[in-house]
Amino acid sequence: MIRITNLKKRFGDKEVLRGIDLTVQDGETVAVIGSSGSGKTTLLRCLNCLEYADEGELTIDDFHVSLKKHSGHDTLAVRRKTAMVFQQYNLFRNMTALRNVELGLRVVQKKKLDKAEQEAKSALERVGLGEYFGRYPSELSGGQQQRVGIARAMALNPHIILFDEPTSALDPEWVGEVLAVIKQLSDQGQTMLIVSHEMNFVRKIAGHIVFIDDGLVVEEGSPEDIFTHPRKERTIQFLKTVTDDWVYKI
Ligand SMILES: Nc1ncnc2c1ncn2[C@@H]1O[C@H](COP(=O)(O)OP(=O)(O)O)[C@@H](O)[C@H]1O
Ligand SMILES: [Mg+2]
Repeated sequence: MIRITNLKKRFGDKEVLRGIDLTVQDGETVAVIGSSGSGKTTLLRCLNCLEYADEGELTIDDFHVSLKKHSGHDTLAVRRKTAMVFQQYNLFRNMTALRNVELGLRVVQKKKLDKAEQEAKSALERVGLGEYFGRYPSELSGGQQQRVGIARAMALNPHIILFDEPTSALDPEWVGEVLAVIKQLSDQGQTMLIVSHEMNFVRKIAGHIVFIDDGLVVEEGSPEDIFTHPRKERTIQFLKTVTDDWVYKI
């Protein structure tokens, strides 16, 4: 189980996260939804120790770390247990798909080259990229690049995968294949925390939805609770702005 308690983060005068509590059970897919600028990326970055929080604790089973003060050793331990999939893929442009996936296995997990290579290949095969080991990012479509990003996260065999709007940088034609890979992972029981604007997708795959606004969790519950019977006015307002009609009418 993963538990985040009292996560706070400010940038200058702006309090972006004002005390977030969130729990993800093993094998569960939890979706975080909220308007742009509500702190979703900051939340994931603090969890992956890419950012220092001002307050907050992270517990993963019996492992416990302060998100405010983490040493290099803590950071490495967190990165062994959490893996992030970024909005903009964040692949190294000068490395092939295989090297990109292998890198974390070598650096974070200190695996030997042949073992790392074997595991990286297997991860790429699992996302349907068995034919693309030697391709550079520039030789792959956006959807394929993001699948490399997912393979890189999966290969680490992390306790939890954190997804930051994994399809929002993609041309519409590539969204489906990436969502399919994420759904497959969810079906296989991979624990995941996913920030997404794809409401229909989130509704289908997440077991638990957390709506954040103004730095706090406003409402959380099952997809049915949140999408069909939202209780808070703020949630209703948000859902009105992100229905398909609204998104695709522009
Ligand atoms: N490194 C930073 N420095 C200053 N402000 C930041 C930084 N990162 C994010 N912010 C601000 O924090 C707020 C939340 O950003 P973000 O976490 O990216 O939101 P979301 O992912 O929900 O769109 C925004 O107002 C953003 O401008
Ligand atoms: Mg964001």
